[in-house]
Amino acid sequence: MKKSEFIWLDGELVEWDKATVSVMTHTLHYGTGVFEGMRARETAQGTSIQFLNDHVDRLYRSAEAYNLEIPFNKNVITNAIKEIVKVNKLKSAYIRPLVFFGDGEMGLLPQDIPVRVAIAAWEWGAYLGDEAGSKGVNVCISDWQRISPKSFKPYAKGVGGYMNSTLAKIDAVKQGFDDAIMLGDTGTVAEGSGQNIFMVKDEQLFTPPIETGALGGITRKTVMEIAKYLDIDLEEKNLTREDLISADEIFFTGTATEIVGVVSIDKIAIGDGMVGKITSNIRNKYLEIVNGKEDNFKHYLTLI
Ligand SMILES: Cc1ncc(COP(=O)(O)O)c(C=O)c1O
Repeated sequence: MKKSEFIWLDGELVEWDKATVSVMTHTLHYGTGVFEGMRARETAQGTSIQFLNDHVDRLYRSAEAYNLEIPFNKNVITNAIKEIVKVNKLKSAYIRPLVFFGDGEMGLLPQDIPVRVAIAAWEWGAYLGDEAGSKGVNVCISDWQRISPKSFKPYAKGVGGYMNSTLAKIDAVKQGFDDAIMLGDTGTVAEGSGQNIFMVKDEQLFTPPIETGALGGITRKTVMEIAKYLDIDLEEKNLTREDLISADEIFFTGTATEIVGVVSIDKIAIGDGMVGKITSNIRNKYLEIVNGKEDNFKHYLTLI
């Protein structure tokens, strides 16, 4: 990880190495915290944060879902996100706001425990590697099931839920795959370990509904808008492993991952085993949008 100079912690700019917490931090013990993953990029207009309002809104929705009352209003957090990119003099960055219960008491009921907020930003390249965009990734279907929406709130980006994702990711990498696709509790496809998933069949796009346990991804929502813009039919539909295997194209979406083709599943080639045409078109449009080159989507960029 390429450290930056400062982290925003509870309203103050703190040197990166001094932004520390007690080992008795409640979220460290019980996992109740929420976070966001966002990106800023250098555009012709200057460094811009992409989908800033969507991410801040989801952070507050996630916090509310898990009973964390953020002690700052949305304006303060929005400005802090911009500030942390600026003070670290980052031209492009991955930004990680984290809301967590601090320390003070033990026990599941987080009573008399302060809600704390940290916002870090640092340089971080493509999550699945520099070549993933052009060559695609090889994945497996995980033996680990996505946590059921009956057991957590999939629309919220909660810290503890990532134990489930991490199990799937580690197992996939141990077997030599780049990542994993997880099925939901009814056996249909939910999402990747840290990405949403789309499938192309006969020029039409399909993605599983979030009721499968998939996160309501902001890149997922953007791809839905891109599909409309490019006149590609899209349907939210339950998909099986067999649907995926017989797909023409598959791709992952996410802020860290961006848009990356899935070229094989369990060593079976998808389509011709290369990143497909529709995947490439959508990826290119996405990159135009986040790089400030698509006027019709410029409202999604916030100059810092
Ligand atoms: C489990 C999971 N699903 C989907 C996504 C994609 O969401 P977004 O596009 O908002 O980054 C992420 C991103 O972090 C994720 O962790």
